[in-house]
Amino acid sequence: MRIYAHRGCSGTHPENTLAAFKAAAELPITGVEIDVHLTIDGEIVVIHDEKVNRTTDGKGYIKDMTLSEVKKLDAGSWFSEEWAAEKIPTLDEVFDIFQDTNHRLNIELKTDVFPYVGLVDKVLEKAKKRGFSDRILISSFNHEDVQTVCHKKTVESAILTLDVYVDVYDYARVVGTNRIHLSLPASFRRMATDALYKGAIVYVYTVNKLEYAQQLQQIGIHGIFTDFPEKMLAGLESPVN
Ligand code: G3P
Ligand code: MG
Repeated sequence: MRIYAHRGCSGTHPENTLAAFKAAAELPITGVEIDVHLTIDGEIVVIHDEKVNRTTDGKGYIKDMTLSEVKKLDAGSWFSEEWAAEKIPTLDEVFDIFQDTNHRLNIELKTDVFPYVGLVDKVLEKAKKRGFSDRILISSFNHEDVQTVCHKKTVESAILTLDVYVDVYDYARVVGTNRIHLSLPASFRRMATDALYKGAIVYVYTVNKLEYAQQLQQIGIHGIFTDFPEKMLAGLESPVN
């Protein structure tokens, strides 16, 4: 079962920062999951929420800020003073960290609240330019964007869902993928085993208890997103990278 560090090593470092990604780059895991938004001047930045309020010392929406305004914010102190120098990274800065490793990047397009027109193409272009096209997996709760990525047939893409579907595999195939990222509660519903039986590649978020990870491994789930990848590495039998 593959292990992805969710927002980097976000259980031990401030989420979606270079510190969290550098820690993940040191581990023999499959990769990292990152969340991306677009600034008002069209730069791709890595942060979970639409607003900077929760994870920085600033206020407001990413969509209303320039990259230079975003870069002034402290993205580490909210977690611990030790990380006060951390900033909101750009996608390019995250690529820099993994340039010479073999980790994969799950780039989650946060286009389900604001559409961030042009984000899909910008992410794909940047990944291509940086040589990451065969190492990225695009996902989103915005399935129209997942479908757009699927139609381009250049990179892997997955639907993200919180919902319970009678037949999630058939739905994913309509979108254009066989990859499904399920929430932990949904992964214990029949839809997970049905999808696996039909041939889906199923990853589950966010799995922070080892016993849940072990149960998911037993039913054949292909990957997990966890805030504590070191714990999973130590506790799971033969995690696959
Ligand atoms: O991509 C898996 C997971 O990150 C989706 O939920 O809210 O943590 O971005 P969220
Ligand atoms: Mg995410």
